[in-house]
Amino acid sequence: MDRTTYQFPKDFLWGAATSAYQIEGATEVDGRKPSVWDTFSATPGRVLKGHTGSIACDHYHRYPEDIRLLAELGFRHYRFSISWARIMPEGRGTVNEAGIDFYRRLVDELLNHNITPHATLFHWDSPQALEDRYGSWRSREMANDFADYASAVVSRLGDRITHWMTLNEIMCFTHFGYEVGKIPVHAPGTVVEHQKQVWQTSHHALLAHGLGCQAIRSASPVPCSVSLVDNFAVSVPLTETPADCEAARRAFPFCGYNGGILLPALTGEYPSDWLAQLGEAAPEIQEGDLEIIHQPLDSLGFNIYSGVYVRAIDPDPGYEILDFPRGYPRMHMPWLQIVPEALYWGVRHISETIGQPNLPIFVTENGCAAEDVLTDQGEVIDSDRIFYLRQYLRAAYRAVSEGYPLKGYFVWSLMDNFEWAWGHDRRFGIVYVDYANQARIPKASAHWFAECIRHHRVV
Ligand code: FCB
Repeated sequence: MDRTTYQFPKDFLWGAATSAYQIEGATEVDGRKPSVWDTFSATPGRVLKGHTGSIACDHYHRYPEDIRLLAELGFRHYRFSISWARIMPEGRGTVNEAGIDFYRRLVDELLNHNITPHATLFHWDSPQALEDRYGSWRSREMANDFADYASAVVSRLGDRITHWMTLNEIMCFTHFGYEVGKIPVHAPGTVVEHQKQVWQTSHHALLAHGLGCQAIRSASPVPCSVSLVDNFAVSVPLTETPADCEAARRAFPFCGYNGGILLPALTGEYPSDWLAQLGEAAPEIQEGDLEIIHQPLDSLGFNIYSGVYVRAIDPDPGYEILDFPRGYPRMHMPWLQIVPEALYWGVRHISETIGQPNLPIFVTENGCAAEDVLTDQGEVIDSDRIFYLRQYLRAAYRAVSEGYPLKGYFVWSLMDNFEWAWGHDRRFGIVYVDYANQARIPKASAHWFAECIRHHRVV
C-alpha cells in the first residue's frame, strides 16, 4: 500500500447510506401506519420550521431513479433501513405484505444494478402503536417485538439480503428520546423522572439487539452477516505520545455512552467502575440479559462524525477529556467538529482497547452538513464537504495500512434528506435535493467521491 497515494486494497468496499424515515416519504400509503417520528414531527415546536418526513425525498416512488444514480456514481454497496411501521403497522402481529413488497422491489432494483444491499432493521422509526401500548423502549416488551419483526423481515427478504444490521445508534433513540427535566430532541420525546429510567431504555435496546441477532440468524434462509451499528464516542490522544495514547485508552469506556452501550454489546459486561460511577442511575439487569446482549457479531458498524481529545494528567484517573476551544473548526452542525483522526482511533480502540483485533469494522456512516448553495448554473460546489471527507478517508487509509480490520466505508448520505429535529434545514447529501421539484443534483463531492471509487484511492 502506498502511503502517498492513499491507494486502498482491492477488496475495500465503498458505499452510500440512507435511512427509511429520512428519505422515503409516502407515510400513509400501502398500509403503513404512523411511527413515533411521524407523531413527533407533527407536534409543533419539535422539528425546525415544522418540517416532517411525510414527503422527504419521495424515495418511495423515486427509488428507481435514485438507484440508477447510485450505480452511475459507481457505488457497489448501499446501506438503507427498513421501516418497522410499513412491515408491522401495529408494531406486532400481522405482517403487511405490501410493505415487504416495497423493499423487495427496492432490493431487486439494487441487485439488477450490481449493488449489494446492506439493510438496517431499525433506524429510529418505531411504530406509534407500541408507544401507545407500552411506551416503546421503556418496556422490555419492545425487545421481543423487535425480534419478531426482525424474523418477519428476514424470513421474507433473506433470500436477497445477506447483510443485516440490527439497530442504528442506540444512544440517539434512547438517551435523546427520553430525558429527565427537559423535552428530548428525539422521538418519542418522553420526559421521565429519573436517569435510571433512561438507562433502562438503552438496556432494553441492547436486549433487542441481542434477540434480534438470534432472530436474524434463525430466520435467514442462507448464511448471512449480522452487525450492530454504533456511534460510539472516540477518545483521540491530543498528541500521539505514549502517555496521551494511554490516556485515550483509559478514557475510552468513560467517553460519551460507551460504557453503557458499546462495551456491554461487545464484551457482555457493563464495566464495573462505570456502573459504580452511575450509582443509582444504573439500569436493572435481569439474570441472563448480558448473555443475550453479547451475541457474536460478523462485523461492527461504526458511525463516525467527530471525536474528543484527551491528554494524560498525573492524578487519577490519568486522563483528561478536553473541551473544544471556541474557534475549533466545524461543519454545519453544533456537534460536528472536524476530528478526522477519530476514524482511525475508533478502529484502533476496538482492536486494542476492547481487545477485538479480529472483528471486521465498516464505517457505516461518515459525512457532514454544509451550507450548500445551488448556483445559477445548476451546480453545488461543496469544496468544504470534499475537504472534510478527504481528511476522514485518509484516516481510514491509515487504519487499513496499519493492518486494522477496517473493511469498508459508507458515506452519509447519498442525498440530502430529513435530518431529524433539524428537518430539511441541514444537508448531508453528496447529491443535492431540490425539495421544490425533487430534482437530484450531484454535488462536486459526488463527482469527487465517484473518482475515489473509480481509482480506489483518495483523490
Ligand atoms: C446519525 C444518524 C443519521 C443522520 C446522521 C447525520 O446520527 O444515524 O440518521 O442523521 O447522524
